[in-house]
Amino acid sequence: MAEPYMRVKGLEKKFGPFTALGGVDLEVHAGEVHALLGDNGAGKSTLIKILAGVHQPTAGQIYIEGKPANFRTPRDASAAGIGTVYQDLALNQLMSVTRNFFMGRELKNAFGMLKMNEMDKIAHDEMLKIGIDFSDPTQAVGTMSGGQRQTLAIARAIYFGAKVLILDEPTSALGQKQQMGVLKTIQKVRKRGDIGIIFITHNEIHSRLIADRFTFLALGKVIGEGTQETLDHNEIRRLMAGGAEMADLEQELASV
Ligand SMILES: Nc1ncnc2c1ncn2[C@@H]1O[C@H](COP(=O)(O)OP(=O)(O)OP(=O)(O)O)[C@@H](O)[C@H]1O
Ligand SMILES: [Mg+2]
Repeated sequence: MAEPYMRVKGLEKKFGPFTALGGVDLEVHAGEVHALLGDNGAGKSTLIKILAGVHQPTAGQIYIEGKPANFRTPRDASAAGIGTVYQDLALNQLMSVTRNFFMGRELKNAFGMLKMNEMDKIAHDEMLKIGIDFSDPTQAVGTMSGGQRQTLAIARAIYFGAKVLILDEPTSALGQKQQMGVLKTIQKVRKRGDIGIIFITHNEIHSRLIADRFTFLALGKVIGEGTQETLDHNEIRRLMAGGAEMADLEQELASV
């Protein structure tokens, strides 16, 4: 297989004496969705914060297109093509869709004036490409649905050059229909073929619907990995629960 866009080897993160990540390997290939799964506290967010330049690892190495990369700040990670969509999305509800899309990266003319019409058109067109026709980008983000906001954050990351798109539980706060809308957006990004996606979720069905590869974390370590072909339903459920048999957990529940 071709060299992945991003590879991490032996990534470790200690907070004082506590090991949140204990040596994790991961590959992200263009055109693939890589599901990152694991129970609460498994280390998923810690891992992506390292990839996003928020935390520095205590050991291990990130490689971008085969070359070692060190992200001291989120700006470094972003410049290397890592686009992160956090659960809270970092959107300002009172500001327009367009202003959120270009937040801090506005297009200006030679006199320093904002090119509003051009930015409106770009925001609209970029969101349309991955699934939503939000006709009026001058409206406040507060008028968008949760799913549309996810799509806005994803479109923004792509427009500003993400080659690895990290999505931290993009479907968790949404109703069923909107969840499908976000999965459709992810599918469209995947189909472009030039972007690799890390998809963090606690939802087995969603991972099944769109992931090519799976990595399971528990207590900061990789406890399993595979593809749609190599993993069945029971195995995914077991690994998502940190290696516990779901039948045992269900038995426990029944005996309360
Ligand atoms: N800044 C920090 N300082 C100390 N401990 C931390 C810090 N951030 C995370 N941890 C610990 O590291 C472990 C992994 O946390 P992390 O947030 O990465 O888990 P997660 O897999 O994202 O869980 P969840 O599914 O609940 O979001 C947890 O035990 C957490 O308490
Ligand atoms: Mg988390």
